[in-house]
Amino acid sequence: MMRLTDSYPGVTVIMPDEQILPGLKSHYEESNDKLATHRERYSKIAEDKVHFERSHSNILKGATGLKGSALIVGIGNATDIPFNELAKQFDKVTVVEIDPKSIGRALRSLDKDLLKKITVVVADLTGCMASLAKEVELLKNSTQTAGAFLKGLMMTLPTLKPKTLAVFGEQQFDYVVSHLVLTQLGTIPLEWVVQATKHLSSTEPASEVPTAPLLTFVRELQCQHIRDLHSWAKISAKVYVADTCANYACIRPEPQALPILYETSPSTVASAVHDTANHLFKLKETSRPWAYYNCPPAHESGARGTAYSVQGYLYER
Ligand SMILES: C[S@@+](CC[C@H](N)C(=O)[O-])C[C@H]1O[C@@H](n2cnc3c(N)ncnc32)[C@H](O)[C@@H]1O
Repeated sequence: MMRLTDSYPGVTVIMPDEQILPGLKSHYEESNDKLATHRERYSKIAEDKVHFERSHSNILKGATGLKGSALIVGIGNATDIPFNELAKQFDKVTVVEIDPKSIGRALRSLDKDLLKKITVVVADLTGCMASLAKEVELLKNSTQTAGAFLKGLMMTLPTLKPKTLAVFGEQQFDYVVSHLVLTQLGTIPLEWVVQATKHLSSTEPASEVPTAPLLTFVRELQCQHIRDLHSWAKISAKVYVADTCANYACIRPEPQALPILYETSPSTVASAVHDTANHLFKLKETSRPWAYYNCPPAHESGARGTAYSVQGYLYER
């Protein structure tokens, strides 16, 4: 982490202790590396431009009239986050991200004189990815079939509880932003689980293993995230959450060894999250949904990928 402070003097870097297994960690990195290559496309492809512009304008609209401190969680490369504008507007901006490489890209997009306003927290927002990764490694080494692995995973998941990031203590913020993080809290580790188990034989039908614990686990991660956002917001704060769960649609589904794990972001999860949010905050404003393509859009021939419908929500406490 020396490298971040060396390359970006003035930035404060905080790294809580827990170490994520390198395999899972690099999965976050790969995902952000792919997203980074999209920056180029934002100026060229109409659909991407819409996503980029709507994301920026909604986040800035939510910040209207606010000052003091902002918290941006899961900032990634900050391609679709108006990081520079927020850093100009607020006295202090704290960012949380599990993948330090992407934070370097985000910091690169800032005017140099704004770096001193930035605190970077390199951490897992869920507090349980390190344990999940350890359990998956143990199961991988102790099971021979996909079915046996899944059975073990379903028994393990209820023991993994999301934990609030302790690093903030009593500190609260004037603006809290979570942009397209909710879905990833579950999908990134589960994609990694699928990859990590590709070598297992599927003689035992994985489809017969009940997956309720999986859905409960993802839902808990997402609901805890909403509760955390609420706890980090001052009484007078605004909280912006954008979510890609609603109207999830596959253009070309990728073939998966354990397809069962892939279907973990149904709109029921989104509604659970919104229920949690609506109990905690007052919904102030909802943006109109827009489409986001995380792979080449449908009109490009041979495209594989997923189209998401994105919606932004602005809450008050
Ligand atoms: C879809 S990306 C957001 C895109 C980003 N705004 C950009 O412009 O590149 C979601 C981000 O959340 C981060 N993330 C996902 N799960 C996380 C976790 N458990 N803890 C911290 N960050 C996480 C990912 O690494 C990724 O950078």
